[in-house]
Amino acid sequence: YAADKGNHRHFMAKEIYEQPEVVARTLAHYIDMARGRVCPVDMPVDFARLDRISIAACGTAYLAGMVGKYWFERFARLPVEIDVASEFRYREAPLEKGGLTLVISQSGETADTLASLRYAKQCGQNVLAVVNVPTSTIARESTAVAPTLAGIEVGVASTKAFLCQLTVLLCLAVAAGRARGTLSAEDERGIVDALIGVPGLLAEALKGERQIEVLAREIAKATDVLYLGRGTSYPLAMEGALKLKEISYIHAEGYAAGELKHGPIALIDERMPVIVIAPYDAVFEKTASNMQEVAARGGRIVLLTDERGAAEAGLETLATVKLPEVHPAVAPLIYTVPVQLLAYHTAVFMGKDVDQPRNLAKSVTVE
Ligand code: G6P
Repeated sequence: YAADKGNHRHFMAKEIYEQPEVVARTLAHYIDMARGRVCPVDMPVDFARLDRISIAACGTAYLAGMVGKYWFERFARLPVEIDVASEFRYREAPLEKGGLTLVISQSGETADTLASLRYAKQCGQNVLAVVNVPTSTIARESTAVAPTLAGIEVGVASTKAFLCQLTVLLCLAVAAGRARGTLSAEDERGIVDALIGVPGLLAEALKGERQIEVLAREIAKATDVLYLGRGTSYPLAMEGALKLKEISYIHAEGYAAGELKHGPIALIDERMPVIVIAPYDAVFEKTASNMQEVAARGGRIVLLTDERGAAEAGLETLATVKLPEVHPAVAPLIYTVPVQLLAYHTAVFMGKDVDQPRNLAKSVTVE
């Protein structure tokens, strides 16, 4: 087994470093590089005929789905309802016959996700599974499969599978936008070009590892960490918090930046680092003002942004991690890297077993 880690100390590190390659492989499956378009997806139902879609998944896959919701709604003007699978399966949501449910799963064996799939089918829905293990139960039972090509993932905390899920969901949202006539050829081209650039940008983001390794020593001292983000950075904030708590056992929460005032602001002090995920995009100014509120209360900020955002933020931070400037559609993919590395290095610095965190299982096949 040790040999499989290559030059890395842990599977998690190896899998984080494989991301440029596995995303490239996934893109090759979904993008017609020559024409600069997303390939037609093997869909059980035409996106143009749908009024809405439902998404059900667990853990990190659920957070990928949440990013997907922003994309489907923005690019395809398609309303998305998303639930954790353990709620979806029991709340007896009315699902229209002939509609579409998306399930997302790395293993394809998660009990609640599988039960959600079965519930949706009972309601007469088509189920599209975004799944990493092609031979899994979820892949077999769904109406159609949109594979993620991440390869075998060993680390319990999902990393490369998450990025491939994002890649597939963005391609699906673009395909939906085209089918529904809500995305111009020019806008599609813009997103596709940005997607093609993602593997290179991921490699660039990985070069920031050393800075994050140093920063992790600070984070390791905290008992609580708050992650903030807006728009697609909001689910990413939750993913950052999830990764950190899973492998370092530091309590962490991901919050929508705009909700800061409605609770978490009461917790701000110099002992709780606040990680702000804020590429310079259409909502940057709003997030920046939340950041000011944190700073005004003595909170220590770690800002994940780009050159422009760093310049505009205009405040002192514990650290500013600069990422390449990217098309807003692909920002969640690139910003995933520092979020993963921060959790990884914090846990490693604390001497935790990052590949086999206590109490967690890679695949949760019982309820
Ligand atoms: C477990 C794993 C997570 C994963 C979740 C969903 O909690 O530790 O990494 O995100 O299950 O698993 P799935 O295989 O359905 O994506």
